[in-house]
Amino acid sequence: MIFVTGGAGFIGSNFVVDWLHREGAAIDEPVLVLDALTYAGNLANLASVRAHPGLQFARQDICDSAAVLALLRRHRPRAVVHFAAESHVDRSILGPGEFVRTNIEGTFSLLEAARAYHGERTGSERDAFRFLHVSTDEVYGSLEEHEPAFTETTRYAPNSPYAASKAASDHLVRAYFHTYGLPVVTTNCSNNYGPFQFPEKLIPLMIANALQGRSLPVYGDGQNVRDWLYVGDHCRGIRRVLEAGRPGETYNIGGRNEVRNIDVVRRICAMLDELRPDGGGSYARHITYIKDRPGHDRRYAIDCTKIERELGWKPAESFETGLRKTIAWYLDHADWVAEVTSGKYRAWVALQYGDAASAFQG
Ligand code: NAD
Ligand code: TYD
Repeated sequence: MIFVTGGAGFIGSNFVVDWLHREGAAIDEPVLVLDALTYAGNLANLASVRAHPGLQFARQDICDSAAVLALLRRHRPRAVVHFAAESHVDRSILGPGEFVRTNIEGTFSLLEAARAYHGERTGSERDAFRFLHVSTDEVYGSLEEHEPAFTETTRYAPNSPYAASKAASDHLVRAYFHTYGLPVVTTNCSNNYGPFQFPEKLIPLMIANALQGRSLPVYGDGQNVRDWLYVGDHCRGIRRVLEAGRPGETYNIGGRNEVRNIDVVRRICAMLDELRPDGGGSYARHITYIKDRPGHDRRYAIDCTKIERELGWKPAESFETGLRKTIAWYLDHADWVAEVTSGKYRAWVALQYGDAASAFQG
């Protein structure tokens, strides 16, 4: 068995579904999803595998080390794949406390449980165990236009409370390898997009707002650059690192696909114009520049040479193909969007976008 923390969130649920459906999947190796089901965790994300005999679920806060250790002892997994986190930069600016709790204290609690569990194993079971920590490129800070992309040896320089909390968790994971010999591997990935992403993040927010005729809020001058990777490619990279990554190593995962925010939004509008014309002219008419995010990182870019060379991983989707799939998925899943954008979500939009919120709330 493997454990997947945060498996009801965006990337975690994609990982679990892909894991259970992957070629050669062993039906006798189930997945136990541990998830606290915060606003970002949704069991509907796992609906396609709900009846799969390989799926088990525990509603579990990772901060409860004793409960996690009891689950580890009971199920004896060969790996923990750790996605659970608070993941949205804007939320971390308005309320950093939850980020410190889940991302730092939660990762610490999980590491403590994994250390105790690993210490009790012997022989091949002990040798085979892996703790895979899923992290982000945001720990490296911001790049100027002319600077080379982040490598695994780029100095950490996190700028948001989210990035700082992830950086702290990466350091703890590293320390558990060096100090206690816990067999960890860390992945640092660029911005993901794809099905089941909560519509607070750029791409799903723009799709959802456009379809409802609402404003498309672009922060600052819209020239910030992100390196976009389709979620399925990220999940394949994680599987490859789990299979062949060297303990104690970190692997950058990215799409070699840098795009300015305004160009992301324009491409979404152009695809929607083609796939779901609304009769009122291009969706681009809804683009609105709004006040910038405080401390907004200018550019992220990942150099993924190491994982390509060592593990033979490469992204399969281009931005064009990945975005088309993503938009098609959101067009087909209006019910999912309606369900997750409930009352609590609207309160968040009012807090985050202030006066501009009326444009979101219709
Ligand atoms: P998400 O916010 O969609 O999902 C997070 C999941 O963690 C949710 O299911 C939530 O219920 C769960 N969770 C939160 N607090 C918990 C707790 N205390 N105990 C147990 N479960 C808890 O996040 P995501 O976008 O899927 O990101 C997953 C991981 O990947 C995160 O660690 C994030 O830092 C990392 N990452 C994300 C991106 C991206 O673009 N989204 C890029 C690189 C790395
Ligand atoms: P986001 O999806 O929040 O990811 P991150 O901040 O982790 O990179 O944002 C991606 C980019 O889009 C980032 O530069 C901020 C910008 N952005 C907007 O311009 N408007 C928005 O409403 C949101 C949510 C993000």
